[in-house]
Amino acid sequence: MRVLILGGTGDAAELAARVATIQGVEAITSLAGRTSEPSLPLGDLRIGSFGGVAGLANYLHQMKIDLLIDATHPFASQISFNAAAAATKAGVSRLMLIRPTWEKSSDDRWIEVDSVAAAAAVLQKESQRVFLTIGRQELAAFAHLKEIWFLMRMIEPPDHDALVPPGIILCDRGPFSLNNEREILIHHKIDTIVSKNSGGDATYAKILAARELGMQVVMVSRPATPEGEQVTDINAALAWLVKKLHT
Ligand SMILES: NC(=O)c1ccc[n+]([C@@H]2O[C@H](COP(=O)([O-])OP(=O)(O)OC[C@H]3O[C@@H](n4cnc5c(N)ncnc54)[C@H](OP(=O)(O)O)[C@@H]3O)[C@@H](O)[C@H]2O)c1
Repeated sequence: MRVLILGGTGDAAELAARVATIQGVEAITSLAGRTSEPSLPLGDLRIGSFGGVAGLANYLHQMKIDLLIDATHPFASQISFNAAAAATKAGVSRLMLIRPTWEKSSDDRWIEVDSVAAAAAVLQKESQRVFLTIGRQELAAFAHLKEIWFLMRMIEPPDHDALVPPGIILCDRGPFSLNNEREILIHHKIDTIVSKNSGGDATYAKILAARELGMQVVMVSRPATPEGEQVTDINAALAWLVKKLHT
């Protein structure tokens, strides 16, 4: 049985490693190719776009894929909708593995917004020194905020011609510790964090540090997901796979 894992997350990499231990199952992980040195998963790997729904459906057919597990980042919404349409077209069973959202605790000072553009609008009124942790693809949404200083963290720097707000770029890859995040917030005199509600442990320490310091967090809510079966952890995804193997 051949499984395509749509990857780009730690969960996808761990899933690929666990699938590699199941006899009779061959896994191929697909990465978008957003970073030049991705952590490489176990098993086969392909990198780069498929060319929309038609391209992905074609790939599923040509590679004789039996099952599709969409373990992409919760904010990588386009590929998830493409996967849903392509799997239907190709007659392939599909599962979404999506880690749970972070939940606001009573000690958190979150301003919840539904888009990166809405986060920028909130900052305009509320903030002077911002820790911007949304990756490198949507920095342009903040580029007009010339009165605010930004510390922008991402795995790789933006393209040299990208529109970027004032401030400095910090290239680093999680997981990040609480000490690391506390030190950043204090050293740079940050007053606001902007984060996507990515969920998971690897980047949660900044939320803990903000809670400790009573700092506000502008939290961007997740986009909608396509219809279909969803699980929130790797064990459940493996159970789905094993069940499919025996039916
Ligand atoms: N993609 C990631 O690995 C990743 C990792 C961390 C965070 N994110 C978050 O997601 C947001 C959107 O990212 P995005 O533009 O990469 O996702 P996206 O908007 O869902 O995808 C855009 C296009 O990239 C290609 N693509 C995405 N994931 C792919 C995969 N696993 N394998 C092959 N092709 C893939 C597809 O191209 P075709 O339609 O041409 O096939 C897709 O239509 C980012 O701003 C960030 O917040 C994404």
